[in-house]
Amino acid sequence: MDRSALKPLVVLGATGSIGTQTLEVASRLDVAVVGLAARRGSPAFLDLADQHPDAAVVVAAPAGDERARFESKLGNRVRFGPDSLVELAASPGATVVNGVVGAAGLEASVAALQAGNRLALANKESLVAGGPVLEAARTAGGGELLPVDSEHSALLQCLTGEDIEAVGRLILTASGGPFRERSAASLADVTVAEALAHPTWDMGPRISIDSATLMNKAFEVIEAHFLFGLPYDQIDVVVHPQSIVHSLVEFVDGSLKAHLGEPDMRVPIQFALTFPDRHPGPLQPFSLADHTLTFQEPDRQAFPLLDLGYEAGRRGGSAPAVLNAADEIAVQAFLDGRIGFGAIPRVVEGALEAVALRELHTVADVMEVDAEARSVASELAGTC
Ligand SMILES: NC(=O)c1ccc[n+]([C@@H]2O[C@H](COP(=O)([O-])OP(=O)(O)OC[C@H]3O[C@@H](n4cnc5c(N)ncnc54)[C@H](OP(=O)(O)O)[C@@H]3O)[C@@H](O)[C@H]2O)c1
Repeated sequence: MDRSALKPLVVLGATGSIGTQTLEVASRLDVAVVGLAARRGSPAFLDLADQHPDAAVVVAAPAGDERARFESKLGNRVRFGPDSLVELAASPGATVVNGVVGAAGLEASVAALQAGNRLALANKESLVAGGPVLEAARTAGGGELLPVDSEHSALLQCLTGEDIEAVGRLILTASGGPFRERSAASLADVTVAEALAHPTWDMGPRISIDSATLMNKAFEVIEAHFLFGLPYDQIDVVVHPQSIVHSLVEFVDGSLKAHLGEPDMRVPIQFALTFPDRHPGPLQPFSLADHTLTFQEPDRQAFPLLDLGYEAGRRGGSAPAVLNAADEIAVQAFLDGRIGFGAIPRVVEGALEAVALRELHTVADVMEVDAEARSVASELAGTC
């Protein structure tokens, strides 16, 4: 593959789990890094800025003396605030990896697509909360939307070269999280440390908790709906504890195509940068004989957020945005020790019922719903 054909890279959420792995992939592929963004002006971010002297740097929400420290070290290479994050996402001719966590990533995703850029999307909250708005931005700006989530990258790889009309079902695999074998009753008082201990993936705190509740899988169902344009009846979930099969596509003739490999986010990140080409990667050859693969139905009673996600997806409009915002509040309340694990679904369901359904046309529409859902969810979390 011709490396010079790879577009220069902007990494949003550069200090996070996805961001740092993206920078490692970029270094191996020898891709130019032209932009870096994070929330805070942390020492870790300053180190990254030093390692990439040609990159424009954005600190979206500097605190204390971070602004002064970054300005004194980086001069006019650094900018501040959420608007600068959005401007960076619109850098002409770039591949933008969005590894920001939460709904804060939405406006940057829209800007990247409107500018005609390739958006390598890890920030699934963008697509869950603002699916219709992102679709409109992609159509208007001609940008390209590629998944970084391992499941959706797997689906993309299975679908490449296939006619979407020939697809029977998309089947997303779920590891089942740390509580796969637990009953609904035993989940009420699990600790934060237990919930953060994901069995197969090493990820940031919110997505780790979302994996433990299966909310993350529900988000991925909604993400798959928007990425591949299939109705919810054609998107299924199966639990696969080993996380070796990253997802499958079933075709109308009954054939199944699956994508397999070691669980390592550097692989889907790299594919989103090099698509449709492939490039040698960081993993050793895979030994099939070393693995036993098992599959089971998800326990929908113990993990009610999975079906709630389907319901929000089918309602459409603002419902997935409410789901995302309420979950973000509920997860933070759990991480802070303010509510128990079993209260997370109650907060999310309560918010989904309380916030009126409406259509979403703009980022402002999404942010309005997001704010309302957060306020309702915060109140509900206070009474749990
Ligand atoms: N980690 C995975 O394996 C994985 C897999 C699939 C999908 N994802 C998705 O990828 C996204 C990132 O996940 P992660 O695990 O990498 O999260 P993470 O480790 O918590 O990192 C989040 C990054 O976003 C930055 N950030 C947070 N709020 C921001 C804001 N308002 N403006 C600008 N930057 C902001 C953080 O900066 P600071 O460091 O300054 O706070 C950090 O760089 C999430 O949407 C997640 O669902 C992750």
